[in-house]
Amino acid sequence: MNPPEPPLLVAARGDIPSQVPVWFMRQAGRSLPEYRALRANESILEAIQRPDLAAEITLQPVRRYGVDAAILFSDIVVPVAAIGVGVEIVPGRGPVIAEPFRGASDLLRLRPLIPEEDTPYVLETIAIAKRELNVPLIGFAGAPFTVASYLIEGGPSRTFTRTKALMYNDEPTWFALMEALAEIALASLRSQVAAGVDAIQLFDSWAGALSRRDYARYVLPASRHVLEGIGATGTPRIHFGVGTGELLELMAGAGTDVIGVDWRTSLADASPRVGRGYCLQGNLDPAVVLAGVAATHREAARILQEGADHGPHIFNLGHGVLPETDPGVLTDLVEFVHNFARAAT
Ligand code: CP3
Repeated sequence: MNPPEPPLLVAARGDIPSQVPVWFMRQAGRSLPEYRALRANESILEAIQRPDLAAEITLQPVRRYGVDAAILFSDIVVPVAAIGVGVEIVPGRGPVIAEPFRGASDLLRLRPLIPEEDTPYVLETIAIAKRELNVPLIGFAGAPFTVASYLIEGGPSRTFTRTKALMYNDEPTWFALMEALAEIALASLRSQVAAGVDAIQLFDSWAGALSRRDYARYVLPASRHVLEGIGATGTPRIHFGVGTGELLELMAGAGTDVIGVDWRTSLADASPRVGRGYCLQGNLDPAVVLAGVAATHREAARILQEGADHGPHIFNLGHGVLPETDPGVLTDLVEFVHNFARAAT
């Protein structure tokens, strides 16, 4: 007899599993003391290049929290770093680009990614993690817009003014950049699927900075290229961004099985926007976890009810685990989510 299909994959397919699956964005690293001990003095990009270490960090939250999925320990800037774009991840800040992209001539710096040669350590990490895991492994890539925003701004940004200036002033360069980054994301994701990941998440974390109109014109075609390319492999896809309440319908239509929702939009509001054909993922405010167990239970119960009213639901935070999170509250939350599902069925 085949083992039962994992709840995360059942939900991603649009069916209702026996209990609601739960995992946390940024569950690997961040709040775990066992992660900080392992990382010690190494930079995160160095740690990602050591498959034994990266696989161990991937497994830590599964052991600690009992979550229904692992997410590969890597970063959205790894593929561009691997083809020679100078990137450093500065603790407390994020990716910083040595020489930010300014115009057409910078396109020459983006050669195609050859995953087996450029990021063999990612594929090795997947192989090691898969041997140890008894839950699905989620691979991921940064969506073209979000990766472009780092390349152009040179680092994290609130306003994305340089990114938007390029978008509005030089469409040929903008679309060529989106296309190059889409091919890089797709090559990376295809290689992760071939190496054994069970689902993928496309992170368009900063797409919420765009209007519907600009998202549809300047961003969606490139993201669709990535998502449809992976769709052809049959691997479940999750499409996620922050502050994307106004974009949910478009992001779902870009070609995905699961649509991530941040905490600003309730699942009850998200449901009619995307329609019944999608699984919803989310959407506890990561700050609620810092408010303690009682507040976490109260909010999680509301979200679980809204998820059940919609249909297929993967419980998650609305964005990543905050660094100051108490791991004990997350362990308790996983148990709460699993028990809620049992009580409801
Ligand atoms: O989710 C996981 O636990 C898996 C690993 C993962 C990391 N980055 C490791 C990491 C994933 C999925 C990412 C994706 C990522 N990286 C995104 C999309 C997700 C999101 O949060 O919206 C983005 C925008 C990045 C770029 C990036 N890398 C940022 C903004 C930061 C934060 C800088 C900081 O310290 O606040 C990073 C660093 C980073 N990537 C950390 C981790 C665990 C924390 C720093 C560290 O441990 O050194």
